[in-house]
Amino acid sequence: MNLNPKTKLIIESLTLKLNSLANELSAKGKNIINLTAGELDFPTPLYIQKEVKNKVNLNKYTPTVGISTLKHMIAGQIYKDYKWKVTAENVAVTAGGKQALFESMFAILQEGDEVIIPTPGWVTYKYQIILNNAKPILAPLNKKFDLDIKEIQKVISKRTKAIILNSPNNPSGSFYSAASLIALKKIIKNKAIYLIVDDIYSKIIYDKTYRTPALFAPQKKYLILINSFSKSQALAGWRVGYVIANKEIIQAVTSYQSHTTGNVSLLSQIAAQEIIKKGDKTKKFIQILKKRRKIVAKLLQTIPRISYDLPKGAFYYFINVSRIETNTEKFCEHLLEAGLALVPGEAFGSPGFVRLSFSASTSKLIKGIKIFKKICKKY
Ligand SMILES: Cc1ncc(COP(=O)(O)O)c(C=O)c1O
Repeated sequence: MNLNPKTKLIIESLTLKLNSLANELSAKGKNIINLTAGELDFPTPLYIQKEVKNKVNLNKYTPTVGISTLKHMIAGQIYKDYKWKVTAENVAVTAGGKQALFESMFAILQEGDEVIIPTPGWVTYKYQIILNNAKPILAPLNKKFDLDIKEIQKVISKRTKAIILNSPNNPSGSFYSAASLIALKKIIKNKAIYLIVDDIYSKIIYDKTYRTPALFAPQKKYLILINSFSKSQALAGWRVGYVIANKEIIQAVTSYQSHTTGNVSLLSQIAAQEIIKKGDKTKKFIQILKKRRKIVAKLLQTIPRISYDLPKGAFYYFINVSRIETNTEKFCEHLLEAGLALVPGEAFGSPGFVRLSFSASTSKLIKGIKIFKKICKKY
């Protein structure tokens, strides 16, 4: 078929594909422990359910990039969290962080531009850059999954239009140190390089030394901040996120969205307002996640030939299995046959690793790691 050649440049997200494959196998009756989830396994908080149920009679379009009250609330929240003075005109409400990222890239990228992705990095960045006619440039993180400034310096050029920073990071669960962010700030200080800060996991933190990369942006006009209610508020399926950026970018995002999806579901916007009004409940989630993180560490300790760091944020263990198998796509197929779904490191540009999500019940984690241990032993 004579399709758009761009369709050949992208493949379905490996993380979503594995997740649906695991779900398909479960639906067919195979017992699969699915530890691929990129979302919290907690139900929608009751106070949100209640508020939204009261509003189901509302059925009209809203302004394209969000109802005014929500945009004002988000602007207020940004000042609280980042001490960054923005107004509703700097806010665009989008269908999750994914749309926020895509539309921001649409706004700034031109053919020939390059965007640096510290790697391992989230699978979608690369494809969004390609879809916007620019070139993804991978810069390896160091062994601790911190920014490696030398690697970034090696790839920065006149063509560099943006750097994507995701801290805590998917898949490593680690975050960038303040020292590395200060060093980055120095090298981009007088350059027209956008910092795209994907702060989607910034509220799921287990280590007090965390500082968001947004605080280290040398020039606010080149800062694009992405966030959503998907991860920290357990609302992934409600599709509500936002971009904070200068007005020109928000105008371009608005135009794009007005001709594509239009506004985010009104009910999701109401849910987001409720969260900001009542104060988020992430702390409760973190308490549970911390316990699970500890249980997983204890179980993983008993498996020879693997290594990993305790995640400092998000809800992923990124496990180095390269002494067992470097082709982790193949390794994950074997795990799936044995009843465990994990995401191979190839999805994030790091073969030899697997990502285990601990957003799952304790019993699932125990059963899943038992299978993992068995297969590791067999190799
Ligand atoms: C690093 C990162 N950024 C953005 C997203 C997109 O999140 P959303 O569900 O809000 O679109 C994800 C989701 O997996 C993610 O892991």
